[in-house]
Amino acid sequence: MSKTPVRVAVTGAAGQIGYALLFRIASGEMLGKDQPVILQLLEIPDEKAQNALKGVIMELEDCAFPLLAGVEAHSDPLQAFKDTDYALLVGARPRGPGMERADLLAANAQIFTAQGKALNAVASRNVKVLVVGNPANTNAYIAMKSAPDLPAKNFTAMLRLDHNRAASQLAAKTGTKVGDIKKLTVWGNHSPTMYADYRFATTNGQSIKDLVNDQVWNADTFLPTVGKRGAAIIAARGLSSAASAANAAIDHMRDWALGSNGEWVTMGVPSNGEYGIPAGVVFGFPVTTAGGEYKIVEGLEIDAFSQERINITLAELQGEQDGVKHLL
Ligand code: NAD
Ligand code: LMR
Repeated sequence: MSKTPVRVAVTGAAGQIGYALLFRIASGEMLGKDQPVILQLLEIPDEKAQNALKGVIMELEDCAFPLLAGVEAHSDPLQAFKDTDYALLVGARPRGPGMERADLLAANAQIFTAQGKALNAVASRNVKVLVVGNPANTNAYIAMKSAPDLPAKNFTAMLRLDHNRAASQLAAKTGTKVGDIKKLTVWGNHSPTMYADYRFATTNGQSIKDLVNDQVWNADTFLPTVGKRGAAIIAARGLSSAASAANAAIDHMRDWALGSNGEWVTMGVPSNGEYGIPAGVVFGFPVTTAGGEYKIVEGLEIDAFSQERINITLAELQGEQDGVKHLL
């Protein structure tokens, strides 16, 4: 083992996504099978949460992962984020049956202001931040705004679960393998307004738009199925998605750190004005990744239907941002 360990902070580490995530990070699935990691785990100070975290750490130890170079339990973000190279901000209050993400905005704004400030104070200057906790785009925006000394581009939100959900639906529709689907993207907010766009997508090199050739299916079946998948899982399980969310977080960080080999992936990233999205809005875009950096795919044609969808999800995000302005 020759590589120097990197520090990976995970918040909400004793929650259900944490339980599906930590073991995969420690086994090398996120940063590579040759990259040792030190886990810096954050939970709320509450005794029950800290005890649960202790149990998770016992299990991590019992896995005897060769790449796990250390595990720390924390209740203070200033300690959990010390020198961290990667920060996965999962801890937040999950949505229960009948609740919308907007209801969670104010409660979560407090959490992400404090965590953004802590990252600003103590994290590695190159820390790569992924916000999973909902409302993910706006929480990432709040953390980014609370960390003025860190590069804004290093604050990202998770739309990869939406991307993966869309890919799976398209594979079923076209009778092809999910691994053959390329050039798919999901624009906008991680919410039912997201716009999953397969106009450029291919499967085995064939245009998915041509194969499907059904705009009614797109508007009335595909988009609502992908957009409301989180709610469908809550209705079925009584709990929000966890294993698939953890899997998407691994995909997002792995591709960011190790590269997407020219393939498009979807990341929620602060706009620089691309596609008319105002600068600073954390928006789902198609990106390619290489050398630890992502690059928004530019120059795609936006037709009238797509523009309308993008406007809707942008308006929702701007409404969320306006709702938290006074807290920043
Ligand atoms: P959970 O309730 O099982 O776990 C959340 C954990 O976070 C709890 O253990 C809680 O104690 C902890 N926590 C709360 N506030 C914290 C804070 N300030 N600092 C540190 N820890 C804190 O929830 P979960 O199912 O793991 O989901 C976590 C979040 O992820 C929720 O907001 C959920 O809506 C969101 N989510 C997002 C996506 C996505 O695609 N972006 C997908 C699924 C779930
Ligand atoms: C999901 O998409 O599964 C999560 O964001 C949970 C939710 O509230 O929909």
